[in-house]
Parts: sequence; structure tokens; C-alpha cells
Amino acid sequence: MKIAILPGDGIGPEIIDQAVSVLKALGEPFEMEFAPVGGAGYEASGHPLPEATLKLAQQADAILFGSVGDWKYDTLERTLRPEQAILGLRKNLNLFANLRPAILYPELAGASTLKPEVVSGLDILIIRELTGDIYFGQPRGMRICPDGPFKGQREGFDTMRYAEGEIRRIAHVAFQAAQKRDKRLTSVDKANVLETFQFWKDIVTDVHGDYPDVVLDHMYVDNAAMQLVRAPKKFDVLVTGNMFGDILSDAAAMLTGSIGMLPSASLDANNKGLYEPSHGSAPDIAGKGIANPLATILSAAMMLRYSLGKAEQADRIENAVKKVLAQGLRTPDIYETGTTKVGTVEMGAAVVRALA
Ligand code: IPM
Ligand code: MG
Repeated sequence: MKIAILPGDGIGPEIIDQAVSVLKALGEPFEMEFAPVGGAGYEASGHPLPEATLKLAQQADAILFGSVGDWKYDTLERTLRPEQAILGLRKNLNLFANLRPAILYPELAGASTLKPEVVSGLDILIIRELTGDIYFGQPRGMRICPDGPFKGQREGFDTMRYAEGEIRRIAHVAFQAAQKRDKRLTSVDKANVLETFQFWKDIVTDVHGDYPDVVLDHMYVDNAAMQLVRAPKKFDVLVTGNMFGDILSDAAAMLTGSIGMLPSASLDANNKGLYEPSHGSAPDIAGKGIANPLATILSAAMMLRYSLGKAEQADRIENAVKKVLAQGLRTPDIYETGTTKVGTVEMGAAVVRALA
């Protein structure tokens, strides 16, 4: 089995190194091939998603992705910015289903900014549609405003759109995920204002007919944002569009105290996937050896489970992570008095030891 390893920028290479060590320690005959992406891709060949990198990603059975982005690329034209690498991979590989679990490990209950009773034991799953919506909708761009009080001025515009089949396939993924959990699904929309999301709501309701064992409810996105910080444990699985999912998943991540703990999977229709930590490239701490590698290590576990058919090895990694947390090891982002502060490499090495 071939894994494409795309470390990217900022802390990406450091955290990927630790995930690769953990994968190697499993003793499976994985072939791992590295390629540059994001700012690193731009430096290497003038494009954030070099052709060879895309080709490798297409050929591989799964992709382990670090993170992309750095302030120094902010002045490049949009098509050359590091973020285009991840958007391009999602679109080219049809990775439409983004799974973003938010789990609060009991040892880290104090790391959340919310009261422990609100978040302890939190275990929710956000399913974000990843290849449609206003992120990719055409037309988009700049034009002269054709009407209204600002007629004749320059305006920027994007298009929010969802096709029926696009909503159906993500709804199926969400209902099936709910069936494997507490069988409760919340579909998040803005049906009170947007045509796109009234349609979303109607189609999700229709797909529900195939999954009578799942309890479905609908929630407006503003209310969902409020409920996520008020009573997050009331949720089991949430499903929503690309834009709302981007925002809600960051909020959900922070409930757990550290975005440095959260893995994610982006899957196509055949469970081929790209796996990446939910956090970004954190250029402010890059190269300092203090980044938390656990989100990437847990992403590797998700990869084993969803794309490589190695659920037992995934369990091994997840248990090893629980063990190092129980041992009191903490990178600075999750450090509390009374625990032991460690760096990126020490944390990775501790997980490798805990695998045994
Ligand atoms: C994410 C990120 C990306 C997104 C950016 C880097 C394009 O915020 O994966 O949530 O908006 O999808
Ligand atoms: Mg985001």
C-alpha cells in the first residue's frame, strides 16, 4: 500500500516526521513517498500543487498531509497561494466528505476555555461537505456592480450552489456515520434566508427516508454556533455545507481546548482519503520543536481505519495517544501545572514507545 506524504509548510514537516515514525513503528509494509505542497511546492516548482505531487496523490492509496501556508505568500496572486494546494487536492480527487471529530480526552478537560461540566466527555463528529458551495461555485470574481444603490462601482462576488446529487451523497455519509454512533444527526442550514440551504434541508429530509433508525433534526447555522458553545454534548453528528462547516469545525475544535489534538479525514466515494490535522501551519512556532504532533498522529490512525483497512493498527495508535496523555506528557499548547512539558520529537517518541 502506498501512502503519499505531503508535509507542506510551517510546522507541517515537524509534525509529519512524528506521524511517519509512528507509522513505521507499526511494522506494516507501507510504501511512503514524500512530495512538496503549498509554499514548499511553490518554492520547488512555482506552483502550490506541483503536477508531480498531484500525480502521486492520485496514484497513492491514501494521503497524509501536514499543513500549508505562511504569511510570506500573502501577496502572491490567489491561484499561487499555498491554500490552493489543499483546495486543488480536494477538488481533483473528489474528496467531498470531510470528517472532523471533536473529542475531549478526560485528561485535557482543564485545557478547554469552557467549564469542565460543559465539555468533559465531549464526543461529536462534524461532517462538512468539501467540494461544493460558495468555495467552488461559479461564476465568481470582480465586476462592475450592475444594479442597486452601488451600481457602477467595483464589486466582488461568489456563488453559493449545491446540486441535488452533491447533497444526497454527503447526506448518506452523514446518516451512515450516525448509524455507527448514537444515531442522532443534526443538519445545519440557513434555510430561513438562502435558497441553496432550503434545498439542502429538503434533500437531507428526503434521504432520511433510507435511515429511519437515525433521529434527524435541522438547525440554523447561527443557532448551531450558539448551541456548540452552550451545550455541545447535545450533539452527536452534525452535517453541513462547505462554508458553514469550515466555521463550525474551528469552533468545535476549540471546545476541546486544543486544536492541536484534532485529526480529520477527507474522503471520496470509495473511501480513498486525505488525512490532515485540523490545525494550520502555525508559522509563528515553526522550527521551534514545540508543535503538538498528536493531531497528525491521530490523522494517521484515521487513515489506517478508513482508507487502508487496518482498524486494529488505528486502535493501537489511538490507545498509545491516550497512554501518553495519562502519563502526563504535554506539548506547550495543552500544558497545565502538574504535567510534564515535552517538545514535538519527545511527544512522537513517547507515542512510539507506548505502541509496544
Ligand atoms: C480548513 C481550512 C481551509 C478551508 C483553507 C486552508 C483553505 O481553513 O481546512 O478548514 O477553508 O477549507
Ligand atoms: Mg478552516
